[in-house]
Amino acid sequence: MIWKRSAVLRFYSVCGLLLQAAASKNKVKGSQGQFPLTQNVTVVEGGTAILTCRVDQNDNTSLQWSNPAQQTLYFDDKKALRDNRIELVRASWHELSISVSDVSLSDEGQYTCSLFTMPVKTSKAYLTVLGVPEKPQISGFSSPVMEGDLMQLTCKTSGSKPADIRWFNDKEIKDVKYLKEEDANRKTFTVSSTLDFRVDRSDDGVAVICRVDHESLNATPQVAMQVLEIHYTPSVKIIPSTPFPQEGQPLILTCESKGKPLPEPVLWTKDGGELPDPDRMVVSGRELNILFLNKTDNGTYRCEATNTIGQSSAEYVLIVHDPNALAGQTGPDHALIGGIVAVVVFVTLCSIFLLGRYLARHKGTYLTNEAKGAEDAPDADTAIINAEGSQVNAEEKKEYFI
Ligand SMILES: *[C@@H]1O[C@H](CO)[C@@H](O)[C@H](O)[C@H]1NC(C)=O
Ligand SMILES: *[C@@H]1O[C@H](CO)[C@@H](O)[C@H](O)[C@H]1NC(C)=O
Ligand SMILES: *[C@@H]1O[C@H](CO)[C@@H](O)[C@H](O)[C@H]1NC(C)=O
Ligand SMILES: *[C@@H]1O[C@H](CO)[C@@H](O)[C@H](O)[C@H]1NC(C)=O
Repeated sequence: MIWKRSAVLRFYSVCGLLLQAAASKNKVKGSQGQFPLTQNVTVVEGGTAILTCRVDQNDNTSLQWSNPAQQTLYFDDKKALRDNRIELVRASWHELSISVSDVSLSDEGQYTCSLFTMPVKTSKAYLTVLGVPEKPQISGFSSPVMEGDLMQLTCKTSGSKPADIRWFNDKEIKDVKYLKEEDANRKTFTVSSTLDFRVDRSDDGVAVICRVDHESLNATPQVAMQVLEIHYTPSVKIIPSTPFPQEGQPLILTCESKGKPLPEPVLWTKDGGELPDPDRMVVSGRELNILFLNKTDNGTYRCEATNTIGQSSAEYVLIVHDPNALAGQTGPDHALIGGIVAVVVFVTLCSIFLLGRYLARHKGTYLTNEAKGAEDAPDADTAIINAEGSQVNAEEKKEYFI
């Protein structure tokens, strides 16, 4: 019993200590005074901001929120300013929270929470409103641009705190000029970025992207795109269908031409004049098709491509080879093949000879066995009997052969 009571006492004393500790902790806090606590708030334009003011230790002293213009918004749970966007979230002796919906850039500023102790204690909360940048626009592109020209593209966006503008083609373009201007309302900025570069044919068809990154955009940047169109003089190349044109064979020469605008059609000439023999030499599109070659076709063939920017040409020197001369040229090859054939024949003959000898040797043994019976026999009968024995031998021999 006594033991039990002491245990209970001990229990209470532990509780007491805990309570005391808690009380002293509160006292420490309390001794530093009741004070309001607030936090800065950031919200995207059009969103809802919640302003919270807390007082941990409060002896029923009133709390108030006021806006940057020092107008009272809420006094405890009583609404003071007629603004439908402002509503009460929670009102108690420990907290006064209000919400501001459909936030506009003009709502930005310092809001004050006041605790009406003597003297009044305040806490400031800065409301930051992120303006959403407008879709960027790329200007400065005039079509068409000639190869070698200097191009200046400008990408512009406005309606927010300074946004970040970046340029990309297949990778990021770094060498750009960034410019920012504060707008007349002093709440937004117009930012622009300028890209200067000398264009060449490799830029034709390239998509240049201007990307606007901004904290209000939630990782989905705004983009504008401009596809470049660069005009350039043609470049020409002739590709023959065979590296070794022979008399009597067909030949197709393809004139590969690039250029913008595309040079079409291409012009074929031979030795500075028109193509001879239109029956054998047919031009279709970029191809010159020689149906069958003649030695007289030797010469220089030229393909010329022209577009609005300029002209370019390529040449191909045709040498028609004589098929007979070709046969002569491959003579040594024939000799080589002949040599190989000779060796193969020799080896084959040797093999047959060796195989023949091998078989002949076995046939010899067989004959000897057959003769044995007859040789030893004194008369014909015995010879027959012996021959029977030799049949056994023959069987043995058969097995041998199998
Ligand atoms: C605070 O107000 C409540 C009623 O709203 C009352 O019961 C309580 O005693 C008050 N406390 C102080 C410390 O004034
Ligand atoms: C709140 O915002 C104001 C103004 O931007 C700034 O000076 C202050 O340091 C911020 N306070 C906190 C706690 O972030
Ligand atoms: C090549 O042309 C000449 C003259 O036009 C002609 O006599 C000859 O038969 C032609 N040769 C072949 C292989 O077509
Ligand atoms: C064509 O060129 C080849 C190689 O130079 C030459 O052997 C042949 O005689 C030429 N034929 C004509 C008709 O010029």
